[in-house]
Order: sequence, then C-alpha cells, then structure tokens
Amino acid sequence: MRRLLVIGIGAGDPDFVTVGAVAALNEVDVFLVLDKGPATADLTAARRAVCERFITHDRWRLVELSDPERDRRTPAYVRAVDDWRDERAALLEQALTEEVPDGGTAGFLVWGDPSLYDGTLRVIGTIARHGSLDLEWEVIPGITSVQALTARHRVLLNRVAGAVHLTTGRRLAQGLPDNADDVVVMLDADLACRAYADQDLDIYWGAYLGTEDEILVSGKLADVVDEIAEKRAAARARKGWIMDTYLLRRPGAEA
Ligand SMILES: C[S@@+](CC[C@H](N)C(=O)[O-])C[C@H]1O[C@@H](n2cnc3c(N)ncnc32)[C@H](O)[C@@H]1O
Repeated sequence: MRRLLVIGIGAGDPDFVTVGAVAALNEVDVFLVLDKGPATADLTAARRAVCERFITHDRWRLVELSDPERDRRTPAYVRAVDDWRDERAALLEQALTEEVPDGGTAGFLVWGDPSLYDGTLRVIGTIARHGSLDLEWEVIPGITSVQALTARHRVLLNRVAGAVHLTTGRRLAQGLPDNADDVVVMLDADLACRAYADQDLDIYWGAYLGTEDEILVSGKLADVVDEIAEKRAAARARKGWIMDTYLLRRPGAEA
C-alpha cells in the first residue's frame, strides 16, 4: 500500500500554507512534481521553498518529472486533455512504483487548492482505476487564487444571496455568461474581458497574487482595461510567464 497526500499549498504566499498542510508535508517521504511551461522552474522553486520552510526533518526528497506536452492546437480540446491525462497517469504511476517504497507516503503539492482547475485528482483517479498499484489518498485543502484575489482587493466574492460564475478565459471569449452578475475568470491567456469593455462592469484583477511580483488593478472595466493589458504584457515580458485572475462584477446589486 502506498499513501498519497494531495496537498493544496495556496496560490503564492507561503503564509497561505495551512496548519493542516504543514502536518501533511511532514508525513511525506517523496514529493512528486510535474509541471510544464514557462512557469515550471519558478513554481517548482516555490514548492521546494515551502518544503524547506515547513518540514522539520530531513528525510524528504523532491522528484521532478517531465510533464508530457499537451496538444494545445487541436480543436478537440477535451480529448487532448484526456490523452494528456492518460500519459500523465502512466508517468506518475511509474514514478510512484519506482520512487516510493511500499508502505511509503508520496506528496503532490498542488498550487492553490486541488479542487480548482487542477488535474491531479483526475490523474490519481485514473491510476486507481488502472488497479495495478494499491493506493490510498487524502486531500488537504489550500487557499485558492480566487480567495487570494478577493482578500487582496478586500471584496466579497458574492453579493447578498447572489450566485458566482467561475470560468476560463477561453469560455469568456465565447460570451458573458447569462444572468451572471459576478464572474471569476481564470486561465485567461488573452484578457478575454477586453471584448466587454463597452458594458458597465467593474473589474478586480490580480496577477502573481501572494508573491513579491503581485500586481492589483481595480475599477470600471472600460477605464482600466488598457492599464491591465499594459501591466500584463510588461510583466509577462519581464518574467516569461503570467498567472492572473479577475472578478468581473455588474454594479447594482447590494454588495
Ligand atoms: C491551473 S489553474 C490552478 C488554480 C489553482 N488550483 C487555484 O486553486 O487557484 C491556474 C490559474 O489559476 C490562477 N492563478 C493561480 N495562482 C495565481 C496567482 N498567484 N495569482 C493570480 N492568479 C493565479 C490563474 O488564473 C492561472 O491561470
């Protein structure tokens, strides 16, 4: 039997790591890290820093696996994600077999919280269904980038008894969700909200939340969208990658 701890480490600031996550970190023998893309080195360094800061023994190891490339050009996006997940599952299953002894504990350090736009739990589900490894796993929740965003802007996520729509830049580009007064947008490569700058919307935008590079902008979308686009482009050029999240809010309902 191998034990897996899927640990949400919060979306940036090491102070977001919960007491429960610290306890879990200290139970892990081997951390498996799987990332791809321009932010990989920085995110792996951030995970290593979390381990170094919070683990009080020296028996842990961190193993970096090279993530299979996802086919981002195909229109069959969902299928591409599925194929990619299968490849990731095969890679992780092999790493679990080779790197973690029977009876040992592996840790997956998930940016933010494992329930939000993260494939780790699906991949573990695939490995478990495959059935060749005896696994038991637990999830330790973390502070999401959405919580970091609302905290930094000191705003509520929802209005009184209101609903909140959570979506991606790709979906927002297809239209503003119907009947949604509060929309949180993640994974937006192109600042899709620009298309709605003619509407009466407020925006609360944050990049690299919880890190020393954090940038915050808020205001009427029409007034601040160019400023956001400029800051975003400059930051991306400087760092080579960007992670940003924003809340679009239709003014009116009681805050
Ligand atoms: C793959 S998702 C992971 C989300 C993560 N599980 C969470 O709980 O926030 C990556 C997206 O999360 C958002 N994100 C994550 N960390 C962020 C941060 N520190 N600042 C701003 N946005 C962030 C961005 O929208 C980014 O494109």
